Amino acid sequence: MRTRLTDVLEVEHPVMLAGMGGVSYHEVVAAVSEAGGFGCLGASTMGTERMVEEIEAVTRRTDKPFGVDLLTAAPGDMLVQVQALIDHGSRVFVAGLGVPRDAVELCHRHNVLVVNMCGKVRHAIAAVEAGCDIVVAQGTEAGGHTGLIATMALVPQVVDAVGDRVPVVAAGGIVDGRGLAAALALGADGVWVGTRFIATPEAQAVSGYKDTLLQLAEDGTTISRGYTGKTCRVVANDYTRYWEQHPDELQPFPMQFLRSMEDGVNHLGRDADEPGIDPSREFFPAGQGVGAIDELVPAGELVRRFVAEAEAVVDRVAAMR
Ligand SMILES: Cc1cc2nc3c(=O)[nH]c(=O)nc-3n(C[C@H](O)[C@H](O)[C@H](O)COP(=O)(O)O)c2cc1C
Repeated sequence: MRTRLTDVLEVEHPVMLAGMGGVSYHEVVAAVSEAGGFGCLGASTMGTERMVEEIEAVTRRTDKPFGVDLLTAAPGDMLVQVQALIDHGSRVFVAGLGVPRDAVELCHRHNVLVVNMCGKVRHAIAAVEAGCDIVVAQGTEAGGHTGLIATMALVPQVVDAVGDRVPVVAAGGIVDGRGLAAALALGADGVWVGTRFIATPEAQAVSGYKDTLLQLAEDGTTISRGYTGKTCRVVANDYTRYWEQHPDELQPFPMQFLRSMEDGVNHLGRDADEPGIDPSREFFPAGQGVGAIDELVPAGELVRRFVAEAEAVVDRVAAMR
């Protein structure tokens, strides 16, 4: 499947692994890139040293292109990290929070593309005006920090606003090739997929996280500020219900993030051996597509399934004419 996205990223398939902080570590990144998709390391929870180790682990496993997503780094640190991801061979820098103009210039001087996450049309316009090369239109269905506009409504509006200038990638609630075909039909050039890739053997996760996703129905998530202070779509549980009932106690980011750490419910980024995980209170970001996920599937196999299913949908729809 060839689109503007596969052309600019120099990959086979228009399927991007979301740079999920705490989840998208080297194994799943390398598996997606090696299968012809585009793997993105979720480095928002990592210091520069760990990020470089993870990048080196990716490049030991694949020589295909990959990217790095940074979310919460302070502006000063961010430039150091961006320089490091450039120096170690990342093809793309994904800016998860805002448009750092000096980072855009730095990347462009080194031929590295900049992707920006957008939840509103005006964010996408600002990103393109700041020089970003690709925008991800992320709907409210998405797992993790998210806005209010649904993917189905957001994607075509972002395409209309900036699609003549840059490739647009759809995100939020996309878990299979039907979602890829739908994204292409809305005018997007590919998909950015998070939650579906958590349920793979390669993704980093504490015990109970993947099992919880396999059992959850489509209404099992909620948007809560309880874990970070920002609106975040997570598995609904006793902890999110506490904060629903005590909104006056919520603090802004990063204080609320520290609160959830103190409460022993935030272990994102630790591995399956981490002790003391209580799945009825733990921080498990997940999107609304979760109800369609009922088995762990290797990440490379998922990339191939996305494309085969989307091609079948395109053929089926074309046959309706
Ligand atoms: C566990 C988890 C962690 C995430 N961390 C980040 C992050 O660090 N940076 C970022 O830009 N987006 C992050 N996101 C959002 C994803 O990039 C992506 O937009 C979202 O997962 C897409 O929706 P889906 O989960 O329905 O596929 C995260 C999502 C999840 C589920």
